[in-house]
Amino acid sequence: MTDSSSRSSLELEGQKSHEWAKSRMMIIDRIIKDFSTLKASPLEGIKLGICLHITKETSVLVMALKALGAEMALCSANPLSVQNDIACFLKNKEIQIFAARGESQKQYNDSMLRVIRFKPDIVTDDGAELHLMVHRSLGKAIVAGTEETTSGVARLKELESYGQLKYPVIAVNNAQTKYLFDNRYGTGQSTVDGLLRTTSVLLPGKHIVVCGYGWVGKGVASRLRGMGAIVTVTETDPIKALEAHMEGYEVSSLASACTYGDIFITCTGGYRIIRKEHIDTMKDGVILCNAGHFDFEIDLEYLRSQDQEPKEVRPNIQLYLINGKGVYLLASGRVINLVGAEGHPPEVMALSFANQLLCIIYLAKRMGSLETRVYDVPAHIDRKVSEYALNAFGISLEHSIDGQFTM
Ligand code: ADE
Repeated sequence: MTDSSSRSSLELEGQKSHEWAKSRMMIIDRIIKDFSTLKASPLEGIKLGICLHITKETSVLVMALKALGAEMALCSANPLSVQNDIACFLKNKEIQIFAARGESQKQYNDSMLRVIRFKPDIVTDDGAELHLMVHRSLGKAIVAGTEETTSGVARLKELESYGQLKYPVIAVNNAQTKYLFDNRYGTGQSTVDGLLRTTSVLLPGKHIVVCGYGWVGKGVASRLRGMGAIVTVTETDPIKALEAHMEGYEVSSLASACTYGDIFITCTGGYRIIRKEHIDTMKDGVILCNAGHFDFEIDLEYLRSQDQEPKEVRPNIQLYLINGKGVYLLASGRVINLVGAEGHPPEVMALSFANQLLCIIYLAKRMGSLETRVYDVPAHIDRKVSEYALNAFGISLEHSIDGQFTM
């Protein structure tokens, strides 16, 4: 943003993207309408600290929270996932937002600190970076939180197991209406989208190795196969490996898949899955990318130790030369669907964010009265989200699904 005219065109772009996403996320509108019949706005007087990917879908959640009375400060769940037009649009809606695409690690940390200084009552996070920072900064009286993703829930459960969790958190990720759809179909589609927008490679006939067969791996493998790729799954959990086998995938160790894989996609949430011993046996021209939340699934230190000046061959494609062999790394090892594309489609984010919205209202109603632990999403909220979604998709069941719903 250099001058007021470019600012206004960026804002306009953001507004259009926001409206497009909103038109695909009818569930959120429906929730706002249902709560506007109440005498008081359910989030009046509540301050929220939000650390989510700053996307058009997130802007729909943010505007809904504002409509229901909340005050907010936002930062991004990843410095490379910020959609600057959306950040600009939200800023102009008087939302405090501290995020810019490509901000340095220091700026990124400062942005989180600014959200903490806003003194939120509730923290909504994706990956638990903000939750962990709050836990490290003494004297910040956060009352409750929500967490969007598998990796973040794992970190919070670890804190809980050491007796170090400081406030109750709802694991939004663990709602069936979240992980069955967002993690599987959302990541499945948007990872293929990110891979194709970044590389434009042909998929039919390619040997693609999907590391991990959790919900994300399941979605990614099925979408790649649907587009003609020959998919191998690697998995350390024997039950998941068996599932992948019965689903008709080639299942093998990563070591043997390295000899023939054209493209490798990590979907495990684990640390350093693709390491030196794997990279050294891969083919010339291999493509590596990551669909997990954090950028630690591919050993970036090893790549950087072998080539200190990788060539940027296209946006988000770096070529490392290792012993005369070319290895292409996408999106600096960060989550390909948000860096190389726009993240999950709005229809699926509507489900995840309906859970966030209802859980935040649930917490706001119970300020200070919940035990400090990691909670699953209350079953009645999970079910209600499925009802909203069926309704939005125009699907009716045998019996009326719009039963009584109390928060
Ligand atoms: N995580 C994955 N996709 C997303 C999106 N479109 N918006 C916000 N968070 C996301």
